[in-house]
Amino acid sequence: MERVPEPELMDAGHQAAAYAAADFSLSDQAVIERLAQLFPAGLGARVVDLGCGPGNISFRLAAWDPAAQVLGIDGAGAMLELAEQELQRRRRLSPDLPGRLRFQRCRLPDPQLAGGFSAVVSNSLLHHLHEPAVLWSTVRQLGGAGACVYIKDLRRPASPEAAEDLRRLYMAGAPAVLQHDYVASLRAAFTPEEVRGQLRAAGLAGSLQVAPEGNRYLEVWGRLD
Ligand SMILES: C[S@@+](CC[C@H](N)C(=O)[O-])C[C@H]1O[C@@H](n2cnc3c(N)ncnc32)[C@H](O)[C@@H]1O
Repeated sequence: MERVPEPELMDAGHQAAAYAAADFSLSDQAVIERLAQLFPAGLGARVVDLGCGPGNISFRLAAWDPAAQVLGIDGAGAMLELAEQELQRRRRLSPDLPGRLRFQRCRLPDPQLAGGFSAVVSNSLLHHLHEPAVLWSTVRQLGGAGACVYIKDLRRPASPEAAEDLRRLYMAGAPAVLQHDYVASLRAAFTPEEVRGQLRAAGLAGSLQVAPEGNRYLEVWGRLD
């Protein structure tokens, strides 16, 4: 099926709240476990989480390596408000957390962002971007030499019927706004072949590889030169 882009930012209050309230713990934890498998020596001292939303992955990254500084970046104020609230809630148990986990509002691309990160991670951002090259140029801009890169996203199913099947399988019972967003996200997602072309165009095909994962995701990983 043809790609149908969806709005980039998730900055409607009700949309951000429904997303933050949903339980993505299994798929979020799967990201951390995969990172541990791909990069057993860890992600290094400075980790950036692109399109962090309410911080689901950023909080897990900060918990995974208490020595790392983690920066979550998102363009949606509604999402970052929820991330900041969660950070304040968690600081009661982990007073050091705000010193090593920060959130920054920024709509990508942003040439002002400083690089030198030891790892660039992103979960479920790519399919939001109207111009996917934005992600790959940001990876190059922010990742230092040898930086670990891990990007996970939905992959576009072959047909609208296949997208409906996935909605029924994984989102039945979720709030209507999430079910709607899920199908829109599947239709906006890329195929592994398209991502391979994006990496070639960005000059990243030699350092990053892409592969399908399970029945609905794709992954991109590697180290920058
Ligand atoms: C589906 S959410 C994923 C949130 C989080 N990474 C997670 O795994 O739960 C996608 C996020 O990307 C953000 N986003 C989309 N386009 C963006 C852009 N151009 N710059 C910054 N953030 C963007 C949206 O606002 C939204 O919060």
